[in-house]
Amino acid sequence: MATKVADFGDVANANLTQREGLSTAPVPIAPYHCRTFFEQETKQIFERAWLLVGREEEIPEPGSFVVKDITPTKVNALITRTANGKVQAFHNTCSHRGSQVVYATEGRQSRFTCPYHAWTYKNDGELLTVPDESNFFDFDKKKCGLTKIHTEVWEGWVFINLQPEPEVTLKEYLGDFAPYFEGFEYLGANSPVVFEIELDANWKVASDAFIETYHISAIHPGTLKDGFTSTHNPYGRLLDAKVFGSHRTVSMYGNPNYQTDPKHRVEAFAASLGETGNVISAATKAETAKYLSHRAVNPGKVPPWSMDVNHVFPHVQIDSGPGGFWTHWFWPLSENRTRYEGRFYMAETKSFAARMIQELYVSRVVTAICEDITSMQRTQKGLESGGKSHMMLQDSEIGIRHHVDQCIKWVEADTVKEALS
Ligand code: FES
Ligand SMILES: [Fe+2]
Repeated sequence: MATKVADFGDVANANLTQREGLSTAPVPIAPYHCRTFFEQETKQIFERAWLLVGREEEIPEPGSFVVKDITPTKVNALITRTANGKVQAFHNTCSHRGSQVVYATEGRQSRFTCPYHAWTYKNDGELLTVPDESNFFDFDKKKCGLTKIHTEVWEGWVFINLQPEPEVTLKEYLGDFAPYFEGFEYLGANSPVVFEIELDANWKVASDAFIETYHISAIHPGTLKDGFTSTHNPYGRLLDAKVFGSHRTVSMYGNPNYQTDPKHRVEAFAASLGETGNVISAATKAETAKYLSHRAVNPGKVPPWSMDVNHVFPHVQIDSGPGGFWTHWFWPLSENRTRYEGRFYMAETKSFAARMIQELYVSRVVTAICEDITSMQRTQKGLESGGKSHMMLQDSEIGIRHHVDQCIKWVEADTVKEALS
């Protein structure tokens, strides 16, 4: 029998855009294709904001490290966990003649030897040994360690700041988003399935595609439409949205009557195997109930809910769904090129059933993302053609509007405090 969705009519007409204090005017598209704007974003946003660069589970124990290109800047960051458990990022640049010290992208070692002339550093950045040290002039090893990058960890998320001295603390940067999201359960954080691709699209074109469900009927008729729309909500209107300074969250509708099409026999069989029916974390009922009770997960606690998108400015979205969380990183490469990195956090499976559910989930997600890619790249071509100067956004595209507004604000702001005001 169909579930009655008594309260959807109210939330569907909430006028989120005006409620959150945003303009309803058309939005300029120059920020999506203009090279000058991209260069300003690099300098004014990515070189000033606290950037979310990973989760601490990526470097689980002392000696663990990862190396990441922090595009669109030129920084290549070596992020280590030191002997005392501290997470610290460094510029991966040798103090001798500037070679990258670590070529690997991840691993476990407590010392790093530069491949060029074998200077060796500890993983806390200290310079340990220099071959033929006595042949240098007025040499003070203590002053020649790796250059630190300001690093903070909040709720397991690793942030860096590339300013010589950050203008604001991470706490100030996150503002009201921090208390809202604190205490979130990161189910399966140890073992993500990672999906990476380079896109011929601006980083905002890519992130925009993941923060609205208006496109789902048109772009994803066979993969997502039946889950994200229904006769109650045929255009996938959002359930809710909130802005937190430069950050934002949106809550997406889910069809409460969605059932796997029995024609899709493998999927229907897999769905019948899970304890909770969730396809992400393979968590137990009790774990899932605790996770779902968090204030930031389905904030309205309404039944027709599918997922929340929490966009941490500028370039990361942390999504939460009925069974866990997943993330999207949009690393800008140029004004029309982006490296997308999707991480789908799923518990290591011990049973055939859980593994099968996860495999099916991943294949569905990857299929849906592939459906988005064509549209993103065609959108970029359309935006670059010069045919339009503005785009028309509706109420459920509030996440896009707020993001572009914030990018413009940061580009124009003389100080970070002003950008956050
Ligand atoms: S550049 Fe690293 S040891 Fe020479
Ligand atoms: Fe999509």
